[in-house]
Amino acid sequence: MRLDKYLGEAGVATRSEATKRIRKAEVTVDGVIVRDPAKHIDPETAVVTLAGEPVVWRKFTYVMLNKPEGYVSATEDRGPTVMNLLPPQFVRMGLFPCGRLDIDTVGFLLVTNDGVLGHELLSPRHHVDKTYRFTCSPPIGEEAIGKLTAGVDIGDIVTKPAEVTAEGTLPAVSGTITIREGKFHQIKRMFHAVGSEITSLERISFGDLPLDPSLVRGEWRYLTPEEENILRRAAGRDVPPTEK
Ligand code: URA
Repeated sequence: MRLDKYLGEAGVATRSEATKRIRKAEVTVDGVIVRDPAKHIDPETAVVTLAGEPVVWRKFTYVMLNKPEGYVSATEDRGPTVMNLLPPQFVRMGLFPCGRLDIDTVGFLLVTNDGVLGHELLSPRHHVDKTYRFTCSPPIGEEAIGKLTAGVDIGDIVTKPAEVTAEGTLPAVSGTITIREGKFHQIKRMFHAVGSEITSLERISFGDLPLDPSLVRGEWRYLTPEEENILRRAAGRDVPPTEK
């Protein structure tokens, strides 16, 4: 990979800034100053510094964001997007939200530049579980829960079986619902179909990975290598527990 591209992908400079800084002799590769932005390096093994600081390059970046209300799950929009909650270099590095949470839905949003894994996680073929904590009004009773669990007609589709747990005694105003599809406004439309309305929705897990409770709304962190593997497994890949 070209050195200027490497610095751009690592998120430490734009491609043109990288070119300038390489020419100013601010970049070393394996301990040697390199002045040629087109120099090819092996991104997996090269040890690179910029102005004396080590540069960390990863093939792909995976981020868990605790999405707050008021942000659109997109890379660009007229209003604020979830990318506004992340460092600006993430846009340059090609990160995008994997799937959509409604503007008023909060909780776990995966943001990554691994397009293939992102696609696999969203594909209906892989049935990736997404669990949400809901509140609703009016409360739902046994009959509504039975319908939500079995699958309901929401206009364009009949939803696949879901898991629903209610909190407290029935009829309940809150609980959790796990779905494996991801149609537009799916849970809101499911509740509407059984005579209730969602009043709040928080995604608490995605593909067997729970939302980190230490992340407050609007905060994010990188996934650990094992968490990345949990998602790869959720997407149907055969990944042994120790692989990085
Ligand atoms: N279902 C919805 O209705 N909204 C979301 O944001 C996610 C699932």
